[in-house]
Amino acid sequence: MTMLVTGCGGQVGTELLRRARAHGIDVIGLSHQELDITRSDQVDAALSRLPVTVVVNAAAYTAVDRAEHDKAAAFAVNRDGPANLAQFCTGQGIPLIHISTDYVFDGNKPGPYTENDPVAPLGVYGASKAAGEQAVRELAPKHVILRTAWVYSAHGHNFVKTMLRLGRERDEIGVVADQVGCPTAAGEIAVAIITVIKAMQAGGDPWGTYHFCAAGQASWYQFACRIFEIASRYRPYPVTVKPIPGTAYPTPVRRPANSVLDCSRIEETFDLDRRPWPGPLADVLGEIHNN
Ligand SMILES: NC(=O)c1ccc[n+]([C@@H]2O[C@H](COP(=O)([O-])OP(=O)(O)OC[C@H]3O[C@@H](n4cnc5c(N)ncnc54)[C@H](OP(=O)(O)O)[C@@H]3O)[C@@H](O)[C@H]2O)c1
Repeated sequence: MTMLVTGCGGQVGTELLRRARAHGIDVIGLSHQELDITRSDQVDAALSRLPVTVVVNAAAYTAVDRAEHDKAAAFAVNRDGPANLAQFCTGQGIPLIHISTDYVFDGNKPGPYTENDPVAPLGVYGASKAAGEQAVRELAPKHVILRTAWVYSAHGHNFVKTMLRLGRERDEIGVVADQVGCPTAAGEIAVAIITVIKAMQAGGDPWGTYHFCAAGQASWYQFACRIFEIASRYRPYPVTVKPIPGTAYPTPVRRPANSVLDCSRIEETFDLDRRPWPGPLADVLGEIHNN
């Protein structure tokens, strides 16, 4: 198997490149600079000259608030880009693994979201990702859509790194306590994708939509408290974290109050173990502080 990763400079793309070979999968990464997935001519030219047997789309427009004023760009990357990749993959008879998001849901469900729940995005980003999913379903019979949430890693911009910066700059931080989700390290997503690819390699037929997050759930407030508890092993963070309601931290796009994803389908289909979220968080904080 040779896996082609688009958007390989992002959080998930970077972790895929780091981990694939150790799992016996050849990998080729193309960054945004090397391949713009919104350009179907570039997609066809770049991918057809490479020995690709599976494409993983880790490219996305992920600036949730900016997307409200940049709708065309968000839809170009998050809907038209996956559509271009899906068309290429179908033409070549190869599978497409596409990453999507909890933001396709409005967060009003009282319990964890399953793959069968109807989408109802709250903003442009979520709508563009839902449209990308639909394009992949329509254009690529051999697809796996992997929805995940609350992604962080040692590189890129994310909640963990923002908290660490604020923890160095401030004495007190207010963090939203009435929104819950599953904090998920990009490295765990990479391992889940590799597990899916190995199942394909073994002759499985796993096409469809799956939810994947680390096990357990937390509010942003609980996530922040755990970040500082673990990070304090490496250096002092004498910051007080206070719980605040989402209404006290207004954003251009309302965030889902409930982002918890039911991941039983991926666990059962691929015999996949999900680590409870604090373990991968400790790994990432170690990586950040030891570099
Ligand atoms: N981050 C989260 O909390 C979160 C939560 C749920 C789901 N997800 C999903 O998980 C996936 C990976 O997210 P991530 O956190 O790894 O995102 P990320 O760190 O923002 O990486 C996205 C990558 O896509 C690249 N990109 C943007 N436009 C492109 C284009 N037209 N062609 C090719 N590459 C392009 C970006 O390059 P530039 O930076 O150079 O533009 C960046 O390297 C996405 O599908 C995202 O929707 C993320």
